[in-house]
Amino acid sequence: MTALDAAAVAAVDSGGQAAEILDLGVHLRDALWRVESAGLDGQQSAGLVIAGMGGSGVGALLAQAAIGDRATRPIVAVRDYTLPGWVDAHWTVLLSSYSGATEETLSCWDAATAAGARRIVSSTGGVLVERARAEKVPVIPLPGGFQPRAAVGYATVVALEVAALAGVAPSLRDEVEAAAALVESLSVAWGPEGPQDSSPKALALALEDAVPIVCGAGLTAPVAYRWKCQVNENANRPAFWSELPELDHNEIEGWAASGPFTAVFLEDPAGTHERVQRRFDLTAEIIGGAHRITAQGETRLERLMSLVHLGDLVSLYLAVLGGADPIAIPAIYRLKSELG
Ligand code: F6R
Repeated sequence: MTALDAAAVAAVDSGGQAAEILDLGVHLRDALWRVESAGLDGQQSAGLVIAGMGGSGVGALLAQAAIGDRATRPIVAVRDYTLPGWVDAHWTVLLSSYSGATEETLSCWDAATAAGARRIVSSTGGVLVERARAEKVPVIPLPGGFQPRAAVGYATVVALEVAALAGVAPSLRDEVEAAAALVESLSVAWGPEGPQDSSPKALALALEDAVPIVCGAGLTAPVAYRWKCQVNENANRPAFWSELPELDHNEIEGWAASGPFTAVFLEDPAGTHERVQRRFDLTAEIIGGAHRITAQGETRLERLMSLVHLGDLVSLYLAVLGGADPIAIPAIYRLKSELG
């Protein structure tokens, strides 16, 4: 059995992705400070749109889930070139792009400008920040040097804090602090120096020859999506995601055929409708079994971040098992370059 230890990680990890994943707690706290330092005014909005792609867009989905039914106005994630037609001057639009160069997000900048919406930018630089500075639009500056997907803690906390400033959700600062403390303790147990039978190492070994289909529900649905993306980008392997209860109305039939797929269920019993929890049990039984993972922590954000952290580490260990450098995303770079 391959040892998933510090030496094995170091052998593939040319860009220090493991250290960035393990620093999630630091990122969560630093993000709070960065939003505060940006000195944004609170301003009641009709709703909040968060536009961003990939690693910069997932923070919107995670923040939406963490807020849950505590949202007082709509919070909408946009992963596209255009904004909904109903966005107007009463809305706040957060443009989230780590590089500041993503064409879909720049196009949403244009759409937000045309709509007369209040704009806020979260980025390290690029054209997006140049445009924001030129028009005196506030910028929440992110630290440079990461892969965007490794800045998930920043993307999530910035979305949460901007939601509070836009008057569409309560501030979850206390939950951010609690989540930071929780993931710091999990990092010790789950990191490369931790035991070989820790949850992420054991799960990576179980998934070594499989294509994972990660399933969530409610709070954990966007985390399932995050797991899929991290396996794709860090381990350069296929992975898919889906969610309950919807999958019980279609996808469950697909499991009758044999294939390379293995189900991973991300469960949050504390926050899940009892009928959905029953569906996790029955679905696992009907499809012939699933790896069942339970969120840890008290608050919604802790539970969400515990699963995000686990998935990030599973993807790291899958990269190690496959001999992939977790920083390498050649297909994404090629595509962006060919699009010009
Ligand atoms: C790369 C990554 C990608 C990018 C996406 C958008 O690590 O996760 O999914 O996040 O291509 O780029 P940015 O984040 O620079 O707007």
